[in-house]
Amino acid sequence: MAQDKSSLGRLGVVLAAAGSAVGLGNIWKFPYMTGENGGAAFLIIYLACVLFFGVPLMSTEFYVGRQGLKKWPWIRPMTAIFSLLFLSFYLIVTGWCLHYLFHSVVGTLAHLDSSALDSFFVDYVSGAVWLPILWVFVAILLTAIVEFAGVKSGIERVCKVMMPLLFVILIVLIIRGLTLPGSMDGVKFLFEPDFSKVSPKVILNAMGQCFFSLSIGAGALATYSGYMSREQNIVGTVEQVVGIDTIVAILAGVAIFPAVFALGINPSEGPQLVFVSLPSVFNGMAGGYIFQLLFFLLLTIAALSSTISLLETQLNFYVPRLGWKRSTAIIVCSLVVFVIASLAICSTLLFDVLDNLVSIYMLPMGGMIFSVYVGWICPKEDVICQLTPSSGRRSVALCLYGLIRYAIPPIILLIFLNALGVF
Ligand code: TRP
Repeated sequence: MAQDKSSLGRLGVVLAAAGSAVGLGNIWKFPYMTGENGGAAFLIIYLACVLFFGVPLMSTEFYVGRQGLKKWPWIRPMTAIFSLLFLSFYLIVTGWCLHYLFHSVVGTLAHLDSSALDSFFVDYVSGAVWLPILWVFVAILLTAIVEFAGVKSGIERVCKVMMPLLFVILIVLIIRGLTLPGSMDGVKFLFEPDFSKVSPKVILNAMGQCFFSLSIGAGALATYSGYMSREQNIVGTVEQVVGIDTIVAILAGVAIFPAVFALGINPSEGPQLVFVSLPSVFNGMAGGYIFQLLFFLLLTIAALSSTISLLETQLNFYVPRLGWKRSTAIIVCSLVVFVIASLAICSTLLFDVLDNLVSIYMLPMGGMIFSVYVGWICPKEDVICQLTPSSGRRSVALCLYGLIRYAIPPIILLIFLNALGVF
């Protein structure tokens, strides 16, 4: 799928894919989903989904990206459309992050009490539309600038700086959270499971979160693995990317819940957790200004490394397949995405449609197509050899192949039937 095969190093592929995977899903969605779905019990189910569902599915995308699409070439335009729609939705939330980053820098957030924080959020999402549109514009502009610099000097360089920075910020926030009195209740909430909270809905939520967080189903990972050398071990690389993504999600939980509990705030606040509850947590602690700023910087960095991957997935279709110039493709795709996102800002209905379309239908459908293609259409021996070239791990490749071929398609079908309200 690549335009320039030599352009990403071994580490570059891992960091770029991890940059795609680590995003709002880890730092915004994972903590609030954990908060709403019962804490540690959700975490355990999520980890099981990642292992039995995420690792094989990510492997299929890596395989397809490196191998090319000989038999089902239509997957490529399909992923270009999926990533276009997904990016339009994702940019709106990235805009929220930029808005909050700006207001933590200028100090507005530090002066708001909890009810003022609540109206600050509500005013932004349902007030005048020009402001969210402006921030979406800034978000797509930043994304496009990195894309103009290219895959090697743009994406790889940016990810090599952003990913380590992200870890450093997380560690600083964790130390602050854990040193607050009363923080241990938050640690317990995250790590002591209460299985009475588990219901089929919690399991479905964990699966959906797994798709979203690991960037499965929109072709972004396939795009990056197109830059991977033949010798590089697919399963080994997938394990590293999944490992980084999961560690960041858990660390985000450890950074957030102890502080939330220490300041007596309800953990199950839903999507507003990091935008409304967390700023009031920061305002109540010593050094809050700087931690607030670091947190929103973290969120913005994570979001931008994902928007970059979603734009690159579109370029990867228009440039090599349709022969567009890279710069033309960047401008056209950015404009289209900007228009769709702006329309979705003006219409709550369109925003909800996009949100549901992406998370409930598109990503699982993409995952299903990748797994059927790799499990049923591609030659078995080739898949197994490419997943793990070293013979010692053949059994791992065989297990993954079994899951890809027999387990994952029916499970995704169940997810669909459930989403359609069949049961
Ligand atoms: N994984 C990202 C997150 O956690 C979101 C994302 C970026 C994504 N690119 C993707 C999800 C492609 C699915 C497909 O926020």
